[in-house]
Amino acid sequence: MRFIKLLLLLFVIQTQAQQGGMWIPSMLKGMNEGEMKTLGMKISAEQIYSINQSSLKDAVPHFDGGCTAEVISDKGLILTNHHCGFDNIQSHSTVEHDYLTNGFWAYKMEEELPNKDLEVTFVVKIEDVTSKIIEGIASLTSEAEKQKKIQQNTSELVKNSPKEAWQENRVKTFYDGNQYLLFVVESYKDIRLVGAPPSSIGKFGSDTDNWVWPRHTGDFSLFRIYADKNNRPAAYSADNVPYKPKHFFPISITGLKENDFTMVMGYPGRTTEYLPSVAVNQIVETLNPAKVEIRDAALKVQDRFMRKDKAIKIQYAAKYASVANYWKKWMGETKGLKKANAVAEKQKFEKDFQQKVAKAGKQAEYGNLLSEFEKNYTEIKDYALARDYFSEVALRNTELLSVGYKLYQLEQILNSKGDQSFTDRKNTLSSGIGDFYKDYNAEVDKNVFEQLINLYATKSPKQFLPESLNNINASQLTTEVFANSKLTSLEKFRSLLEGDSKTVIEKMNADKGYQVIKSMADAFTKNVAPKYDELNLKNIALQRTYMKAILELSPKSARIFPDANSTLRVTYGKIKGYKPNDAVYYEPFTTLDGVMEKYVPGDYEFDVPQKLIDLYNAKDYGIYGVKGKMPVCFIATNHTTGGNSGSPALDKNGNLIGLNFDRVWEGTMSDVYYSPDICRNIMVDSRYILFIIDKYAGAKNIINELKIIQPAKKK
Ligand code: ARG
Ligand code: ASP
Repeated sequence: MRFIKLLLLLFVIQTQAQQGGMWIPSMLKGMNEGEMKTLGMKISAEQIYSINQSSLKDAVPHFDGGCTAEVISDKGLILTNHHCGFDNIQSHSTVEHDYLTNGFWAYKMEEELPNKDLEVTFVVKIEDVTSKIIEGIASLTSEAEKQKKIQQNTSELVKNSPKEAWQENRVKTFYDGNQYLLFVVESYKDIRLVGAPPSSIGKFGSDTDNWVWPRHTGDFSLFRIYADKNNRPAAYSADNVPYKPKHFFPISITGLKENDFTMVMGYPGRTTEYLPSVAVNQIVETLNPAKVEIRDAALKVQDRFMRKDKAIKIQYAAKYASVANYWKKWMGETKGLKKANAVAEKQKFEKDFQQKVAKAGKQAEYGNLLSEFEKNYTEIKDYALARDYFSEVALRNTELLSVGYKLYQLEQILNSKGDQSFTDRKNTLSSGIGDFYKDYNAEVDKNVFEQLINLYATKSPKQFLPESLNNINASQLTTEVFANSKLTSLEKFRSLLEGDSKTVIEKMNADKGYQVIKSMADAFTKNVAPKYDELNLKNIALQRTYMKAILELSPKSARIFPDANSTLRVTYGKIKGYKPNDAVYYEPFTTLDGVMEKYVPGDYEFDVPQKLIDLYNAKDYGIYGVKGKMPVCFIATNHTTGGNSGSPALDKNGNLIGLNFDRVWEGTMSDVYYSPDICRNIMVDSRYILFIIDKYAGAKNIINELKIIQPAKKK
């Protein structure tokens, strides 16, 4: 009996062991190595991160500041998502060479395409510098002074810490200001496009399938890092040579099964896992619903126009996708937080926290934290809501207002910096604004304007509204603005900017559209921003103390991970299906059969290229298929977020098995509250990537560069 109990206990520990987390690679040894090995990992923490020898981290650069990539050959070939390389693929595309539609493949290195302003950044070394950064702040009383001192210490350290000439020092804060780490990094700036599948593979399913499982997207693209003759970073030059990496990932096609160990390395952007319940409640009940409602209205209008007009479809496709991405995410997040009872779970945690504070005799230091949070978040609520309304309505989703806001900033510059700065900014604005109007349709925007200005006037906190928006008739205001404003076309916009500063300011202020955005921006700057900033600063300070207390009062075994902050992290787990709802269970693997099930000929989201259909019909999968099926995507319990796109998914030996690109809808709440039951990351199977490169594109030159690990031959 005792034995069975013990076994049961072990089982419980094993299955509950993995609770999410994004870990610092230099600290895996003490914190995670044991658990990773229990889950099946065969390599050591030292092989993942080492300062003395090459390690996995040397093959994982930050891609263009927002995504992740990984090195997959000894000639600097890197892999990332199609949606991460999208802008660069688009920038090389013309009507004659439409690489977005048809794909692009360099069959020789000479055919690879250089990209302006694209860089990848490797981490060379990570060092804890907390004591140096917080030196001298204990004696300071005001939060603003503390922040200033921290900034001083940081810039000094960045300037004085040893590094090579081509490297850079960066300091980042962890645990809300309780730990500071120094990163020595190096950025390569000559990055060339090597390959991309057509969008009908790389973006298959588009917005309908975004954040959704089961998924069938071949979301990958290939680039190559070039370096100077000494293998160091250099601006583009025809004389540059392929970068020789310290490490590159072999690609495993030996096969995957449920419960296999996986880990993901990459640069997760931002999470807020340690907010108090009152803040989470605000996200669920107030902020997310408001943002979703605004974007919902804007997207409905755009969709209506895009469906009946091809030119508008092209103009608005990228904008629509980007607005829709977080619209859909916030909906999933809200649903998930409710379903997981995140607020109640946090409250339970807080009750327990209070007891621990009392038990440790830390009442004086930590006893008031939660009531302070309560007070502050209650007070900030309307300001935070007004801030979201302003940024979503004025800055993000109504184009006339967002372009008008640029003029507002121009007027501010004249007031604060004088005539010369005004003229400089005016000229940059006038020449740069063409890109905006190329994709602008006044009829679409007019309909968006009417919807959103109405939401702004009726639903954002009344007490902060400008006079001009009190009791408006939205339709009348819209007609008036769009009939008279010069913000509706490039020619008219440029005409506004002609003349000296006095003339320009007069013309601007006589413009009906400008008047609307100016009144909104003035009201925001005066009524909302100062108080919001003040309360927000208090919350930042409270959060730092709260985090300190959590770290101090939790048992060692609790292993608390720091929120994401765009630094290199490791997350690990298992390949696993999930059960989001009663009677619904999702399996962890998809295949090409599912692509064909979703296939809608000619549809902009679900069309499939003929060549892929032919390969499917012939079951011509080469060494990449398994028993007549072609694997496409899979899911696992890795804790990821925005920025992890393009991250390598690795097996127990540190070989590449997939490419991370998304999460399941029911689990997008993992940014605020991770639940091992329903939070899953979505990856493209490396076998599908190789199949597309080899069989679909016939790019043997690329395949020949790779180190592919095949299943052992049966005798
Ligand atoms: N949801 C993924 C991420 O947050 C993919 C976004 C790109 N795809 C799209 N259909 N918008 O970035
Ligand atoms: N799609 C996201 C990215 O681009 C990843 C995620 O949010 O899961 O980074």
